Amino acid sequence: MHRLQVLSKQLTSGALTERPSTISSSADYERLYKRSIEDPNGFWAEMAKDFVWSKTWDKDHFKSNFNVNNGPIFTHWFKGGKTNIAFNCLDRWVAAGRGSQPCFLWEGNEPHQQRTMTYSDVLAEVCRLSNWLLCQGVKMGDTVSLYLPMVCELPIAMLACARIGAVHSVIFAGFSADSLAQRIMDCKSRVVITSTGTMRGTKPVDLKGIVDKALDLCNKGGHKVDRALVVEDSSCPLQPGVGFQASRDVWWHQHIPQQAAQCEPTWVDSEQPLFLLYTSGSTGNPKGVVHTTGGYMVGAGVSTKYVFDMQPGDVYWSTADCGWITGHTYLTYGPLLNGAICVLFGSTPTYPDQARCWQVIEKYKVRQFYTAPTLLRSLLQHGDDWVTKYDRSSLRVLGSVGEPINEHAWHWFHEVVGEKRCPIVDTWWQTETGTHMITPLPGSWCKLKPGSASLPFFGVQPVLLSPEGKEVTGHGEGILAIKGAWPGMARTLHNDHGRYESTYFAPFSGYYFTGDGARRDEDGYIWITGRVDDVINVSGHRIGTAEVEGALAEHPLCAEAAVVGVDHPIKGQSIYAYVTLTDAQRQGKEMRQILVDHVRKTIGPFAVPDVIHWAPSLPKTRSGKIMRRVLRKIAMGQEKELGDVSTLADPSVVDLLISLRGK
Ligand code: PRX
Repeated sequence: MHRLQVLSKQLTSGALTERPSTISSSADYERLYKRSIEDPNGFWAEMAKDFVWSKTWDKDHFKSNFNVNNGPIFTHWFKGGKTNIAFNCLDRWVAAGRGSQPCFLWEGNEPHQQRTMTYSDVLAEVCRLSNWLLCQGVKMGDTVSLYLPMVCELPIAMLACARIGAVHSVIFAGFSADSLAQRIMDCKSRVVITSTGTMRGTKPVDLKGIVDKALDLCNKGGHKVDRALVVEDSSCPLQPGVGFQASRDVWWHQHIPQQAAQCEPTWVDSEQPLFLLYTSGSTGNPKGVVHTTGGYMVGAGVSTKYVFDMQPGDVYWSTADCGWITGHTYLTYGPLLNGAICVLFGSTPTYPDQARCWQVIEKYKVRQFYTAPTLLRSLLQHGDDWVTKYDRSSLRVLGSVGEPINEHAWHWFHEVVGEKRCPIVDTWWQTETGTHMITPLPGSWCKLKPGSASLPFFGVQPVLLSPEGKEVTGHGEGILAIKGAWPGMARTLHNDHGRYESTYFAPFSGYYFTGDGARRDEDGYIWITGRVDDVINVSGHRIGTAEVEGALAEHPLCAEAAVVGVDHPIKGQSIYAYVTLTDAQRQGKEMRQILVDHVRKTIGPFAVPDVIHWAPSLPKTRSGKIMRRVLRKIAMGQEKELGDVSTLADPSVVDLLISLRGK
């Protein structure tokens, strides 16, 4: 196969030391990959045998339809099977004698704040919380919303829901009260789990206050939350003015310890929903991506094992927050399905100083370290000494996720952090794909090219399509799509299967449309070139331009807004907003602050535009469509490359906008 042939000069290999890697040759990879494509039913059934099922799946367990012309889009894996993912994450390891092995090594905001929970501890706490949820009347299929910082109670709450067949919806604790309310109402959670607050570096974040506001908004919207369970964070107590509503709020530390530490798992059908996770699209409201149990479990467990070369007892650290998909698949489920010891990091990577990450790696002897390019870029500018002061000899595999990694950051990661000893797995995947899709595998046989996500994982058939939907063969560039189903893929969007079909399957019938562009080189390696839709990626956070535009346009003084992503040296992309005011006299610093505060309140701090560019009008085609290509070029100071603007209804708007840049 030509994918693994010729190794050009720029190739770098990263040999693992000490123990043989899970896959030891390209022939092994090729054989398994080929089998996974030719016989998905059989291949995944074999992989699934590593997990515990209360009922085995049917012989022909896999079926899917990706073609919108052939009826509804669907996929099922392990049909007929019954399992419980929390059992597979916890009970299985306790039964195998690993009960006293650490499961979570939590490190708080301050380096001295630590907590170790063993697999037995976590299992007992999960059972107690499951019992409490049952007492609240939470049933199989009900959704529980989790709005928590990175404390052990967050993955515990996810696992407790999974244990009883309830669906968790984690909302990143950086979202505003408005966004939280929208997400709670959308899935009609009656129970919310939160904490008093959290410290992010030197800054307290008043989570309970935000929840109170959100629940008021829910009430106004006609949805009542019956119960808020609150974790007490002693370093960030309730803020002045924030209280407890006796009829609704209860403390975790008063109610959970009273519950029994055993709870029979509910064995659920493979296709029973496991979680909802809201993510941004190019239009409209955030989408509630639905992942189900059996296929997701097998996909998460198997990819973690192969991609991170993981064995039980390995110390693994992902800097992701459980509020995003990486925190679900590769911080909670994947590592625990493999019996790993997970570092849970409840601080920020630059607090109290730039050495924090390397200190953590030294302290816990981390073997696999998984992070985002934006973090590497922000750290590398401070020099190598921060890194080299600490012992990183435990490291074996380095991982990158969330955005394309530039060559400079890749080399720094490889050479300075990993001492040229550790392969970098540059993993391309998405909230919707659930699990890794394109990635190198660790081992000296797998040649690495800085910046390339490399090769498809088992069961994944990436294709590049021309705008007309024709497959580009050999080396070339196109829209990245996936042919055929894989076990971890999202099955639907909450309450909106039509939107699932129209977003992912209608653009190119017969394929899953990723929204990314990509290039395949002469060796068959895939290079992700970035989004082809109106989604932007800021510090690895996915943000829909439409959402930020919507938030701006909600302000009474904003007549119209258009948002584009522009290149940013650290964040990858930053948010650049063009705003037309109802009263141009108000343009100025004060108005900018008002709009920034408004976006912070409506979505959250991470969605705030870096630049607001006053726009008396916007460049539109005669049919009224905003030409974002033009706006992007103006924002980046590339007006010489504007291209054809003759289709604009009023081409003079371009010069006007250029003249207002920086004003
Ligand atoms: O554009 C791709 C980028 O992140 C998008 C998915 O974002 P999200 O659903 O939030 O999931 C992020 C964590 C999996 C993709 O469409 N992306 C993700 N990983 C990579 C990447 N771009 C380039 N290289 C990657 N390794």
